[in-house]
Amino acid sequence: MLDVKGLQVRYGTVLGVDGLDLHVNQGEIVVLIGANGAGKSSTVNAIAGLVRPVAGLIKFRDADMGKLDAAARVEHGMALVIEGRGVFSEMTVRENLELGAYSRPAIRSAALRRAADHAIAMFPRLGDRFDQAAGTLSGGEQQMLAIARALMSSPKLLVLDEPSLGLAPRIVDEIAERLTLLSSEEGVTILIAEQNASLGLDIAKRGYILQNGRIALEGTAPELHSNTDLIRFYLGGQSYVRT
Ligand SMILES: Nc1ncnc2c1ncn2[C@@H]1O[C@H](COP(=O)(O)OP(=O)(O)OP(=O)(O)O)[C@@H](O)[C@H]1O
Ligand SMILES: [Mg+2]
Repeated sequence: MLDVKGLQVRYGTVLGVDGLDLHVNQGEIVVLIGANGAGKSSTVNAIAGLVRPVAGLIKFRDADMGKLDAAARVEHGMALVIEGRGVFSEMTVRENLELGAYSRPAIRSAALRRAADHAIAMFPRLGDRFDQAAGTLSGGEQQMLAIARALMSSPKLLVLDEPSLGLAPRIVDEIAERLTLLSSEEGVTILIAEQNASLGLDIAKRGYILQNGRIALEGTAPELHSNTDLIRFYLGGQSYVRT
């Protein structure tokens, strides 16, 4: 479904991504694990069209994404939950969700309401806070809102950049559980960039370990699970890996 080849992202003289290949098959949950600065955000931002790579091919659902801007990629069925969530704090939960449907301008209010109902069915606590300003939500609730907002465009591929960042383990587990359901019950394909290897490997089918902008290791989740020492090494000992 998603095929990335030879991706290179450069910031002036800094190489953020240095010739990366990865693919995600229809229906899979795939995790891209890496330490701070490994190039996770650069990779997913390039996939979503937020940064322009200097080289490489990004193919999604049989189409070349190279010339498409971020909005066109959303229309094509890709949605990114950016690192740090990016919810609009002054706007209510409802307004944030409505913004997520911007790629579907013809959507009528009843359909919009249905889409919002569907998105919050995943995260019921958002329903209780529908008319509350997003900035007053807890960090975990804001992450849930960011995911729910991405779902408003009915993506075929959901890409998440560090969904566990700054959240308590219980909330991370809740989000992981919802993402698993999204995949198994609704067939949404998921790519997660994470520093938290345990979150990724608990729910993913396959994973890639990223180091200095390159894939250092790849394998099925059980294969990577059995290599926790190696993962710890690539993560510079900074991440806890559940064994
Ligand atoms: N806007 C930018 N300008 C210059 N350098 C950048 C920029 N964004 C990223 N970089 C550099 O590119 C490299 C990869 O950064 P990136 O943000 O992709 O890593 P990351 O894996 O997402 O890290 P983190 O876990 O801290 O979010 C780093 O060396 C970083 O300093
Ligand atoms: Mg990042």
